[in-house]
Amino acid sequence: MTDLSAPITLNDGVSMPRIGYGTYKVGDSEARRTVEAALEAGYRLIDTAEMYGNETGVGRAVRESGLAREGLFLTSKVWNDHHGYDAARRALEDSLERLGTDYLDLFLIHWPSPRQDLYVETFQALLQAKEEGLIRSAGVSNFLPEHLERVRDETGDWPSVNQVELHPYFNQAGLRDWHRERGIATQSWGPLGQRTGSLLGEKPVAAAAEAHGRTPAQVVIRWHLQHGCVVIPKSSRPERIAANLDVFGFELSGAEMDAIDGLETGRRQGIDPGGTER
Ligand SMILES: NC(=O)c1ccc[n+]([C@@H]2O[C@H](COP(=O)([O-])OP(=O)(O)OC[C@H]3O[C@@H](n4cnc5c(N)ncnc54)[C@H](OP(=O)(O)O)[C@@H]3O)[C@@H](O)[C@H]2O)c1
Repeated sequence: MTDLSAPITLNDGVSMPRIGYGTYKVGDSEARRTVEAALEAGYRLIDTAEMYGNETGVGRAVRESGLAREGLFLTSKVWNDHHGYDAARRALEDSLERLGTDYLDLFLIHWPSPRQDLYVETFQALLQAKEEGLIRSAGVSNFLPEHLERVRDETGDWPSVNQVELHPYFNQAGLRDWHRERGIATQSWGPLGQRTGSLLGEKPVAAAAEAHGRTPAQVVIRWHLQHGCVVIPKSSRPERIAANLDVFGFELSGAEMDAIDGLETGRRQGIDPGGTER
């Protein structure tokens, strides 16, 4: 049985914690406070992005924590208006400057943005940055298999990670298997159902929470981990930030996992990565 509290090893040999703190919709000044709470609670992976506008606050909290940089795992993402080799490289350098660090542990292409058709070239910039030690691992986000295959065909490398919308209402069972067969780690965004407040009140989630003496959020986070996903829940509240990490002292049974899987709706909450919106 895999030790879910231990890091996973990515396809390039880099170790990544299985749970991290997400910072979408956390403002720059708020990030300083919430990232400090997350680091104090024991999170070692922090997920930010150029688009979140909070890299300066995240970087400040990281530096003020006094924790050794090598013990932390920092992820950021290049936004859609910086696709293309040179633009992505500049965006990475700007992210590093805002974060006040010499390197990122993981840098992701935030969306494939197929209408621009520049994601392969953008990924080449990430591979070059990895060669130079500016990033330790090169990954993507919101990529469909067709985008991943094209990256692999044209660069020779699979991304290490694909961060995608994933929660019990949209559990991505097919994509998880597809990733597993190719050694790509699946990272879940919107893991608590994001805007859909009803998830934490669903019967199978509430029943498991009661059976294990846990909160519904802890049950859902545990469900991600038992499915082999890396999970990055966000909260602005210190008590929730700490509780969301306390998910290693219980295990969901096969029947509880199946019941939560049964909440699948087949519908995304976010936009379609293959569409033209982005
Ligand atoms: N790559 C992408 O395109 C993409 C897209 C979206 C998100 N992300 C990443 O994924 C991370 C997580 O996704 P997300 O922030 O969108 O959604 P999420 O983590 O699924 O949900 C966050 C919501 O859950 C609430 N919450 C957190 N802990 C809770 C608890 N213990 N009990 C009850 N409610 C709780 C939060 O409210 P409070 O803050 O009030 O606690 C917030 O409203 C993001 O922060 C970001 O880093 C990536």
